[in-house]
Amino acid sequence: MKVEPAAAIHGHLAVPGDKSLSHRAVLLAAVGEGETRISGFGRSEDTEATLKAVRDLGVRVYEADDETLRIFGVGLRGLTPPKQAIDCGNAGTLMRLLPGLLAGQEGRFELTGDESLRSRPMERIAEPLRLMGARVETTDGRAPFTVEGGTVRPITYELPVASAQVKSAVLLAGLYADGETTVDEPLPTRDHTENLLAQGGATVTRTPTKVTVAPATRLEFGEIEVPGDFSSAAPLIVAATLLAGSELTVHGVNLNPRRTGLLDVLERMAANITVFNRRRIGGEPAGDLDVRPSQLVGTTINAREVPLLVDELPLFALLAVHARGDSVLRGAEELRAKETDRIEAVVDGLRKLGAHIRATEDGFTVRGVPSRLRGGGAIDSRGDHRIAILGAIAGLVSREGVEIIGAEAAAVSFPGFYDLLDSLRA
Ligand code: S3P
Repeated sequence: MKVEPAAAIHGHLAVPGDKSLSHRAVLLAAVGEGETRISGFGRSEDTEATLKAVRDLGVRVYEADDETLRIFGVGLRGLTPPKQAIDCGNAGTLMRLLPGLLAGQEGRFELTGDESLRSRPMERIAEPLRLMGARVETTDGRAPFTVEGGTVRPITYELPVASAQVKSAVLLAGLYADGETTVDEPLPTRDHTENLLAQGGATVTRTPTKVTVAPATRLEFGEIEVPGDFSSAAPLIVAATLLAGSELTVHGVNLNPRRTGLLDVLERMAANITVFNRRRIGGEPAGDLDVRPSQLVGTTINAREVPLLVDELPLFALLAVHARGDSVLRGAEELRAKETDRIEAVVDGLRKLGAHIRATEDGFTVRGVPSRLRGGGAIDSRGDHRIAILGAIAGLVSREGVEIIGAEAAAVSFPGFYDLLDSLRA
């Protein structure tokens, strides 16, 4: 698919519901009491995998419409092993969070996924779950793997990597322990699991670096409302910032500060973004964003900031390419363990389009040129949704457009992305 250059983008829009929260809402509603109504559900290939998984585990899901679900929870210990392996598709969040719940169930569960997911590290969740008493057997540290649960011991666990998925797996297993479970996180990561657990009635205590969950006998939600996904708004924010003459308003976006690191980085780069209508949607900070174009300056991102914009770092590269001066990303080696090696995919992809970008072990360095990227070439998504979307925005802001190989990957997080982009062309 070729994405042609645009002069500007214009429009008011809402983006699909937050993917991180949609996964969590479905998983927690599945072990909740009675019916949970989820509105604003972000439907995508990833979250469809989660719906299929909970159905395979014996949970009834009624899809009232595209964005509204009614989930009939089976209670904390009510999940039952399906005959076949649970297929997580491309969804890392599903594969890493679900085992936390499975640690508290009777029986043996097998999880698998697509080729990309089967190549990603899973010992990071297997290790703490074993410490808690679950039997987890991986295939050389990867999927397919099995989880046998039952009795769960409480632990205090220091995260070896800044990962919300690992933190969440431990906290979910902690619901079943016979004492308090604490996760110590050296760097703050997204806290949606903690927020939702508290909303469901679990006892969650937090300090700036620690989260503790007490054993629970029941969770009850009633309603869960999901705000728009900041990570899906991000590519549009970047396009409107880079294209002179743009005027973009995004409504109802999740503005949890552990997700919006890109806004802080953009502010340092002298972007022109206004947040208004601040409110809470489903227990999360949310609001509307107005984006106007701006001439950017380069900046540096260090390890401490990385978890706050981990999924937006490919887009940061594109911003840096168009900024005045140099930019650096450090402490982001985790990008090499995403759906693809995102350091390599971003650097290879953008270089072929004329960017001055160089990979380092834990990030990249960029020499910015404040004019349109040449484009003209192709970018290979390597099956990674964030790279396909990066390619599309690169095409839009370039002089010659960009061919995207494997463009369909965008549907993993954002079905309808290309149509939406076209509808915003001025
Ligand atoms: C996610 C956490 C992050 C992020 C992923 C979604 C989540 O992964 O990159 O897209 O929903 O918890 P890590 O926990 O591996 O950093």
